Amino acid sequence: MPWPLRAAESGVSVVLEPRAGTANLFGVDGAKTAVWGYGGTVPGPEIRVRQGERLTLEVVNLLEEATSLHPHGIRLPNDQDGAPPLTPGSIAPGERHVQSFVVPDAGTYWYHPHLNSAEQLGRGLLGVLVVEEREPPAVDRDIAWLLDDWRLDKDGQIDGAFGLFHDLSHAGRWGNAVTVNGRADLLLGVKVGERVRLRLVNGANARIFSLLVNGAEGWVMAVDGQPLVRPQALTAEEPVLLGPGMRADLFIDILKPGRVVLQDLSRSDKPIQMAVLSASGGVSGHAGSGMPAPLPPNPVALPKAEPDVRQRFVLTGGAMGGMAGAILDGAYTDMRSLAGHGLFWAINGVVPMTADHGMAPDPLLTVPRGQTAVLELVNDTAWPHPIHLHGHSFVVLSRGGVALPEPELRDTVLLLRGERAEIAFVADNPGDWMFHCHVLEHQVSGMMGFIRVT
Ligand code: C2O
Ligand code: CU
Repeated sequence: MPWPLRAAESGVSVVLEPRAGTANLFGVDGAKTAVWGYGGTVPGPEIRVRQGERLTLEVVNLLEEATSLHPHGIRLPNDQDGAPPLTPGSIAPGERHVQSFVVPDAGTYWYHPHLNSAEQLGRGLLGVLVVEEREPPAVDRDIAWLLDDWRLDKDGQIDGAFGLFHDLSHAGRWGNAVTVNGRADLLLGVKVGERVRLRLVNGANARIFSLLVNGAEGWVMAVDGQPLVRPQALTAEEPVLLGPGMRADLFIDILKPGRVVLQDLSRSDKPIQMAVLSASGGVSGHAGSGMPAPLPPNPVALPKAEPDVRQRFVLTGGAMGGMAGAILDGAYTDMRSLAGHGLFWAINGVVPMTADHGMAPDPLLTVPRGQTAVLELVNDTAWPHPIHLHGHSFVVLSRGGVALPEPELRDTVLLLRGERAEIAFVADNPGDWMFHCHVLEHQVSGMMGFIRVT
């Protein structure tokens, strides 16, 4: 397979075949894991396209169940979003489906199904989608690392028990094997003198990666594809928190021979080595030239100071959350009966899904096109939730009631236990847009509704 796939100037066309395959998560001598993957591989092919170009994705579904393709984070026309039943794009087994759109923003994005998500992503259906800047920044190497977390049995096979009530109602399906680009032992040779752009994507169902880079100087340049106004130096004390669905673009300067290690501290009693850059030789590259200039901003409309619409969303439910019940299909339903439907979460006292796990008919909020909306998100549960909005990038205005010094554009905001945040966006993309927790076990058990832009 051509990997990565390269953009022609006019645009890029990619054929993706979700199907069964095998993966060597532990190297060629390790167990062969049966997976579902695009082209049968994990991750799927890395797609690269240039900002402003058209991307055409043709999906041929070779699975035995329906799937869909959602380009996460891309501000695209609603009917190309691949998030059924809200938007078209449910692809039956054996069927072929085409989505096509122009990519407005440069940055690091990804693609995955939006049907039976916990299982389809948990079995390996996901891949990186890179939108390159029209004038790429001065780096010597540009690589994308898709981080994942697998729940495997003792034979190295995927634990087939998806949707366990414990996972749905607690922190989601955390695994026992983490990989980078489908390998638990990824090692990549680099040259001393290089400035490396490292695009990190958290494709895990539930694990919140807590990342350190040991052995090199570096900066966070962008989050969720959107450039930071001021690059943020990486430190040994402050890990980069990446909830499911989130991305970070790092620049890493390789200044001496040796190993640069990406570490995960999400289980802080036991740091996990995620991947290694092994530096040798020497080139006269861009390393050591000091703090990089910020990446060029994307054409995202910034919210005005006085919002037109203001809405508070209180997230409740889950284990140890104290929720007694919520409205389901228009009627108050106690927690026990909700659990009987495999539903555990509510937003403002209402489960935004139906008892048979479809979408509730009414949007959580309607915003007239062009207006600025501020959402106050309150996590009144005992669990963290990375909350994601489709079709828009939003600004995080405040956390815990404290205003942020600089606007942070993103498409997913991680709310830790008890945390709250205010986000603002210009509703400039008409349609019905999914608004959900990206812990996939929460997404499929009630924490998913939609916002309507008219
Ligand atoms: Cu990554 Cu609703 O999606
Ligand atoms: Cu959640």
